[in-house]
Amino acid sequence: MAIIGTDIAQAVRFLQASDLVAMPTETVYGLAGNAFDVEAITKIFTVKNRPTFDPLIVHTSSPDRVADFVTEIPPVAAHLMRVFWPGALTFLLPKKNNIPELVTSGSDRVAVRIPDHPAAKALLEALDFPLAAPSANPFGYISPTTAAHVNAQLGDKIPYILDGGACRVGVESTIIGFDNGEVVVYRLGGISVEAISQEVGNVRIMPHSSSKPDAPGMLQSHYAPRKPFLLGNIAELLALHKNKKCGVLSFSDDYAEIDVSRKRILSPAADTTQAAQHLFAAMRELDGSDAEIIVAELLPEQGLGRAVNDRLRRAAARP
Ligand code: TXA
Ligand code: MG
Repeated sequence: MAIIGTDIAQAVRFLQASDLVAMPTETVYGLAGNAFDVEAITKIFTVKNRPTFDPLIVHTSSPDRVADFVTEIPPVAAHLMRVFWPGALTFLLPKKNNIPELVTSGSDRVAVRIPDHPAAKALLEALDFPLAAPSANPFGYISPTTAAHVNAQLGDKIPYILDGGACRVGVESTIIGFDNGEVVVYRLGGISVEAISQEVGNVRIMPHSSSKPDAPGMLQSHYAPRKPFLLGNIAELLALHKNKKCGVLSFSDDYAEIDVSRKRILSPAADTTQAAQHLFAAMRELDGSDAEIIVAELLPEQGLGRAVNDRLRRAAARP
């Protein structure tokens, strides 16, 4: 079983020995390994049961170190890095040869991010290599936002979980790339489209091209609970399924008739940022409750509501 602790030096020793460590970030917990080391990267795919066509994000601690493994940073990318790093924004940039093809699934672009979490920062600063880290969940399941979530699913497969508390943002990073100077959003995430647009003007959003993914976090069915997950008008869904024990995942409304063990309100104040923070824990808890099905509703398509809605739609999609 994994040791759960806060000992950076111990985490460093495991990573230097090509082993994996679960790392807290402000978005979700990552399953981290040496990004330059094929042995460690291979372990990441094995532990997650992740197909090798789904590439990994590389994490580092300072913008200067990005040049170690990226050949070129377009001016618009440099600007967005200054504004949003450290933070929940991942950049697709041309890679150097020291990044193994396994990390990028054969693509010549590598995904790069500097996380904004004190434990992640301390860990990355103590290492002389960057960390490849997908979300620390089995492939296709809900991403972990606490050390306990990681332990519940991967605890028997990794030696160490660095505990950094509950994740502040709660959904994965926004992933962007650059096409002839235009910013393209491949995955909606913790930095809102509005915030990016405010810096660079119009952006192209293309996260729904799901069958041949440019960014496979976009696979149609993903973030999925094990129970049937229905998306729509909650009151109507409850009426339709009144013969079943229903779990309820609402934005801000309370459904008084539902037992507290089977309902989660993402943000009583109807705040999309707060809803994002609570989303994955709420989905897990309802999945673990005695509800037979889970009914949920979309949020307003603004701010982090877009990222939450993207996760809800993928959770509701069945392969
Ligand atoms: O917030 C996050 O981004 C978290 C934390 C741990 O940093 N990480 C995360 O990783 O969400 P993961 O593996 O669950 O999602 C990574 C996604 C891939 O599914 C893929 O969509 C995209 O990033 N990606 C990574 N490298 C890519 C590449 N070279 N080209 C295109 N997409 C890439
Ligand atoms: Mg993931």
